Amino acid sequence: MTRLLTLDDLKPLAAGTAVFVRVDFNVPLTDEGKVIDDTRIVEALPTLRELIDADCRLILGSHCGRPKGNPDPRYSLRPVADALAEHLGQPVAFAEDAVGESAEKTVAGLSNGRVCLLENLRFESGETANEPAFAERLAGFAEAYVNDAFGTAHRAHGSVVGVAERLEHRAAGRLIEREVKALGRLLDAPERPFAAILGGAKIGGKIDTLQNLLPRLDLLLVGGGMANTFLVAQGHDLGDSLVENERVEMAGSILQDAKDRGVEVRLPVDLVVTDDLNQPTTVTSVGVDAVPGDWKAVDIGMESRRAFAGAVAQARTLFWNGPLGVFEKEPFDQGTRAVAAALAGGDAFTVIGGGETVAAARQAGVADELGHVSTGGGASLEFLAGKKLPGIAALEID
Ligand code: 3PG
Repeated sequence: MTRLLTLDDLKPLAAGTAVFVRVDFNVPLTDEGKVIDDTRIVEALPTLRELIDADCRLILGSHCGRPKGNPDPRYSLRPVADALAEHLGQPVAFAEDAVGESAEKTVAGLSNGRVCLLENLRFESGETANEPAFAERLAGFAEAYVNDAFGTAHRAHGSVVGVAERLEHRAAGRLIEREVKALGRLLDAPERPFAAILGGAKIGGKIDTLQNLLPRLDLLLVGGGMANTFLVAQGHDLGDSLVENERVEMAGSILQDAKDRGVEVRLPVDLVVTDDLNQPTTVTSVGVDAVPGDWKAVDIGMESRRAFAGAVAQARTLFWNGPLGVFEKEPFDQGTRAVAAALAGGDAFTVIGGGETVAAARQAGVADELGHVSTGGGASLEFLAGKKLPGIAALEID
């Protein structure tokens, strides 16, 4: 049996201990560099405050976006340092690079109980490649390692595994602890009925998660583009809608597997369709058997929304990942919003993950009422697929 090391395992932490904290500050920024959604910053605060209260010296590292190993001003973490300073109520020193002269100087100048943030770790190619020399330099800044970047725990990158391997004093932060507990509850002891709502454009990235969840589920609801492929597998003609033709057979076998296991599957019974996704002249709702040949499905219809909301109300455990329509384009976000609003009524232990799902729950004003809002999109799906996340494995002991 393995056990996750937590901040409690690091205690007592001597005042002045230099701690490298891997956070996930991969937050959306405006063109002017303003933080649009600070959820991930807020979620890191309990760990940061605990270490500040212990008078440690905090060296924070994160990625932002996917720069290709070179500085790219669009993804600078400088605005994040300012946002974090506001939350902490104390200045956050910003290093202009991740492991260069500025980082060294900034770390050396850090007093007890103070915080600095390094520039985007992905401005260095050593981060994603997990190059030993890069991890060595980061580890050289600190005496202890804390990882609270759940959203990045599925990446075997330098700051996620390389630094952990080099520092004996290492632990998960409070956010990772919370994520592992909540997501683990879905796999280990879900109260029944257990329902999953899966949406998003494609089945592709969700097959392993679906297969691992299926034996545990009572009910599977599918919406979004991925539902089209299931509907085609059932023999419906979806016109010009997005369909993963190469996965129709697989969708069919998932439906058969669900049937064999006694898992109820609900697909949309009606769809919002349009003649043009970008410049729609007509938007209407039709049954799944009546999608016009050159039209596209863009959302679940009213009847499906009601059916999904009804299922949500009956569940005792619920997992939702992925929008149920083309969420980024109004008015095709309505189905997703309706289901998000339905979450508020139920009393299930509800876990949601994925940027758009979380955004819908926030806009519906229900996010604070849910059991757990995961900060991980890909990471939560991989966790629920039963995979060992490299960032978690690096923090476990036998
Ligand atoms: C996320 O936003 O899911 C995490 O920050 C990981 O980002 P990545 O997919 O670019 O590794």
